[in-house]
Amino acid sequence: MLNSCSEELLNSIDISLPAPEREPQRQYYFIKKLKEMVALKAENAGRSLTYHVETFGCQMNAKDSEKLAGILQSIGYVENESEKADFVIYNTCTVRENANTKVYGRIGYLGSLKSKNPDMMIAMCGCMSQEKHVIEKIKKNYRFVDIVFGTHNIYMLAELIYLKLTEPSDKPLISVFDSASEIVEELPSELKYGFKAGVNIMYGCNNFCSYCIVPYVRGRERSRRPEDIVKEVETLAENGVIEVMLLGQNVNSYGKGLDKEVTFAELLREVSKVEGIKRIRFMTPHPKDLSDSLIEEIAVNPKLCKHVHLPLQSGSTEILKKMNRHYSKDDYLRLVEKIKRKIPGAAITTDIIVGFPGETEEDFEETVDVVKKSGFTSAYTFQYSPRRGTPAAEMPGQISEEVLKSRFERLLEAVHQVTAEITALETGSVKAVLVEEFNTDKQTLTGRLDNNLLVHFEGGENLLGKIVNVKLDECKGFYYIGSLA
Ligand code: 5AD
Ligand code: SF4
Repeated sequence: MLNSCSEELLNSIDISLPAPEREPQRQYYFIKKLKEMVALKAENAGRSLTYHVETFGCQMNAKDSEKLAGILQSIGYVENESEKADFVIYNTCTVRENANTKVYGRIGYLGSLKSKNPDMMIAMCGCMSQEKHVIEKIKKNYRFVDIVFGTHNIYMLAELIYLKLTEPSDKPLISVFDSASEIVEELPSELKYGFKAGVNIMYGCNNFCSYCIVPYVRGRERSRRPEDIVKEVETLAENGVIEVMLLGQNVNSYGKGLDKEVTFAELLREVSKVEGIKRIRFMTPHPKDLSDSLIEEIAVNPKLCKHVHLPLQSGSTEILKKMNRHYSKDDYLRLVEKIKRKIPGAAITTDIIVGFPGETEEDFEETVDVVKKSGFTSAYTFQYSPRRGTPAAEMPGQISEEVLKSRFERLLEAVHQVTAEITALETGSVKAVLVEEFNTDKQTLTGRLDNNLLVHFEGGENLLGKIVNVKLDECKGFYYIGSLA
């Protein structure tokens, strides 16, 4: 989706002149240059050129992929569902080791596709690209990759493609910045869904949880200006979006460092004034600084989903200290109680890691205890994965694979039991859901409740993207079967 302002920008660029220094004009300059080159290639090939962006990891990456797709579409590439495309980008994640292993396997597969289509271009970006040892490995073992760029220069895709095409070399073009540059606004973006969208409100993280690689690969915290965020939400609403998810690694600290400091609760109030936006979600708050004003805002603001994703990570105060999380087991439980008291019917979901270095059986039991007491509606559970360069990777008491697996299984069992009990309580009630998918085989719809759970029900494709009332007839553990009410 090129919004009207971007069309205007594109038209105003003169490509017979040298490239402008200013952003985003500079990127529009390269988009316009490439548009001509791609059109010529397509004419010679007798067909449109295609692209495929594969996203690994979190919502941040999904959002970045929309920006990459937006740039590729403005250049003239057409989306392809599979990797058999003329331009393939892997937008990678490195939060756990198995994510990296998966990506290397898939890049190998891309190499085999490229040997059949030598004009194919392959790019890799995202969190893995910010790691030095990954870059070394790509240079050594995967020389057929054309472009490698990082998390701080996603916006430069057009410029990098132009460079690669005009100065060909048999080595990958590597453009990874150590730290963040400016935040570039007003670039094209292609929405995955027409009716809901993620909106970045800040980038990076300053928390340095001892197991986590994010602060190293996404850099220090920096917030977008509220007026830019509101403008983006307004444009989205004008284009038919009714639900936005505000994205940041630690949304509670939104606004710090801006010319005029703004709190996250204040930002939410501003965003909720945008006409046409019916639902607002956000990810992710940190339990250490979830403010009362934010809880109050969720309670009173009808556009805010009554759902808080509150990563627990561990239920043991000792382990939380080693994780550098800055709250205790009791702090967390008190916070959960407060949320439930102040926001009746609020759903709380979480992330949990098992097998952090030094975790004893007693520590693990504390985690299970918090799961039982908190009544989560769902929980993402992870086996601890040592990440190179993080303090936890060097800590004594790394847990054996066997113990890790056994605790993980036991945690899953506890989570399933609790979430099934909590979700079953809603059976029989009527809830508003946003219809997100139409399943053509079965002629059924899938809708998302305020609390982020899904319900499948019969209905026509015309309801896609609408908010409708659905009766939750049957609870299937972590989703429902329902009927239009
Ligand atoms: N090992 C396992 N899980 C991790 N997470 C982050 N880093 C690691 C790691 N090294 C989990 C946390 C975080 C979620 C996005 O990923 O639970 O909240
Ligand atoms: Fe990682 Fe902690 Fe920052 Fe979340 S808050 S991104 S877990 S360092």
